Amino acid sequence: MGAILTVRDLSKQFGHFSALKKVNLEVEPGEVVGFIGPNGAGKSTTIRILLGMLQATSGDARIFGRDVWSDAVEIHKRLAYVPGDVNLWPNLTGGEIIDLFMRLQGSGDRAQRDRLIARFELDPGKKSRTYSKGNRQKIALVSAFATDAELFILDEPTSGLDPLMERVFQECVEEVKAQGKSVLLSSHILSEVERLCDRVAIIREGEIIESGTLNELRHLTRILLRSETVSPPEQLETFPGVHDLERSGSRAVFQVDSDQLGAVMNYLAGLGILKLESTPPTLEDLFMRRYEQSGAKRSETER
Ligand SMILES: Nc1ncnc2c1ncn2[C@@H]1O[C@H](COP(=O)(O)OP(=O)(O)O)[C@@H](O)[C@H]1O
Ligand SMILES: [Mg+2]
Repeated sequence: MGAILTVRDLSKQFGHFSALKKVNLEVEPGEVVGFIGPNGAGKSTTIRILLGMLQATSGDARIFGRDVWSDAVEIHKRLAYVPGDVNLWPNLTGGEIIDLFMRLQGSGDRAQRDRLIARFELDPGKKSRTYSKGNRQKIALVSAFATDAELFILDEPTSGLDPLMERVFQECVEEVKAQGKSVLLSSHILSEVERLCDRVAIIREGEIIESGTLNELRHLTRILLRSETVSPPEQLETFPGVHDLERSGSRAVFQVDSDQLGAVMNYLAGLGILKLESTPPTLEDLFMRRYEQSGAKRSETER
């Protein structure tokens, strides 16, 4: 079987505004794919098209090999969706809403439902209008993870969850992944995605600006180094890829582009390394740098 989800050159216009510009995205069986970007980047628009809630202007989007617009009903039998802002029927209790979602999806496991309610520390007996945002989020998450969907589409699903519950969420994603299921996880919180995802696609202003495995993207990142050498590293500032250098005598603190690390290490080794500390790059750094770069490029052309 091929990809679970394929998006090819997907575009969406709202009037004259291009919300999506030829977006490409793929989710393979058993894969967790992070869909990362700042607010307004086009994540929810893409997801609404994938769910058949919104029609694309052009391009092709398929789930389980079927067209997301014309085959939405069939697709939804095998899919679970969690939105970032869960609006619920105010007069139903949390437990009633979970049961309703599970019946609508047409699958689900009662014991798994009860286990999830306990793990997310949800009180299912309260009317949903009394729930906080975090609790409404938990209802949607329990409903999704209690079904045996093959694909989970999660659109910023943890906004409003506290860190302990965030951890429970991550375990749930790891469990469905271990069962061979697929997940598309949109987020602007990079640290959560970094731990969970096999691959990420980074979207900004309706365009995918980077995609690949985290290892593939890490070449774009910078590593923070603290060094102390026998001889002072006087030439360090002349190395390409060295940034934000602070030097005092034989001590230096600086960032280095990952692909220039070898050259810098050779240089330091030649000076006699007394101490060396490195802080690995995070997706956050990578994303912020890409974000700043494309932002800077744009303001230059605007001038
Ligand atoms: N129905 C709509 N009509 C007009 N513009 C929209 C509509 N839905 C979304 N947009 C715009 O499309 C852009 C992408 O929005 P969205 O997909 O919600 O971003 P994200 O989910 O990444 O925060 C935003 O600029 C948003 O204002
Ligand atoms: Mg959104």
